[in-house]
Amino acid sequence: MNEPGAPEGGTRQAAAEARDRATAGDLGLGKDLTGLRDLTRAQVEGILDTAEPFKAISRRKVKKVPALRGRTIVNLFFEASTRTRISFEFAEKRLSADTVNVSSSGSSVQKGETLVDTARNLEAMNIDMVVMRHGSSGAAQFLAERIPSNVINAGDGRHEHPTQALLDLLTLRDRFGRIEGLKIAIVGDILHSRVARSNIWGLLACGAEVAVCGPRTLIPAGIDELGATVLNRVEEAIEWADALNVLRLQLERMDGGYVPSLEEYNRCFGVTLERLRRAPETVAVLHPGPMNRGVEIDSDVADGPRSVILPQVTNGVAIRMAVLYLLAGGRPATAASAVA
Ligand code: CP
Repeated sequence: MNEPGAPEGGTRQAAAEARDRATAGDLGLGKDLTGLRDLTRAQVEGILDTAEPFKAISRRKVKKVPALRGRTIVNLFFEASTRTRISFEFAEKRLSADTVNVSSSGSSVQKGETLVDTARNLEAMNIDMVVMRHGSSGAAQFLAERIPSNVINAGDGRHEHPTQALLDLLTLRDRFGRIEGLKIAIVGDILHSRVARSNIWGLLACGAEVAVCGPRTLIPAGIDELGATVLNRVEEAIEWADALNVLRLQLERMDGGYVPSLEEYNRCFGVTLERLRRAPETVAVLHPGPMNRGVEIDSDVADGPRSVILPQVTNGVAIRMAVLYLLAGGRPATAASAVA
């Protein structure tokens, strides 16, 4: 059968065959990407390598290649998103897929329709892939087990946000030339963070050391069993790390007083220029966004020379192109020719 982008006969049958081929493909990712927990180092690095040639598409005047022409992708966003939703949409359009955006507001979800019913109705319109953000942990896996289309997790509750972690890894690799042996401190609200979990799995798989730092109330019990060290003081994290991944306080997921006040949080755990002055200039600062300036990160850090926050966003499009391409049956070795 054809690689993505090659001429197709019956589109739906071709898509199904492409999915089967992906299951047995070079990286063996299977039908879906619901998390990084079960991915091997070769799989994570294979996705990063596949993203490399895709970076160039976004820098061209004509930002389009035919790799996913004829494929239909539904972006199903049940939670607010700026970066992930737009980044997936750009990635899909730049690969020439047909895309439809569905959000909970304005859809029949508001009338009580279940997730599976929504997805089955979309399937009845012959879609190929679903990119989903959902407030419930496990929602992406739940859907993936019930529909034949590829499912990509764009963030599910407190569980995983695999493409965010992949773009973080790509940004670290760009900055340091490697991931192996790097010391990465994830600072902030670890308890409610799907980004933290996916980063821990992905970084450990690639041979990095991981520490988490935040108020005790926002560090989940047993995090050390995942392989992450717990650091209690942000100064300690800054001194230890090659890079800081700063997370916001997810106030919308908090049902109690996890921190006394935002001002006190900033005073105790904020990544400020004053604190960073004691760190080497090579320390990189990441943040997945959206940022709460003056709370977990100060503006002069977010906009300063150590910040790789906007390169993260740029890399997000290439990572999402890579994931879409691979799940559609593409192979890392053919990615360069797909963008030529
Ligand atoms: N990083 C991230 O997931 O941002 P959005 O919520 O804007 O998609």
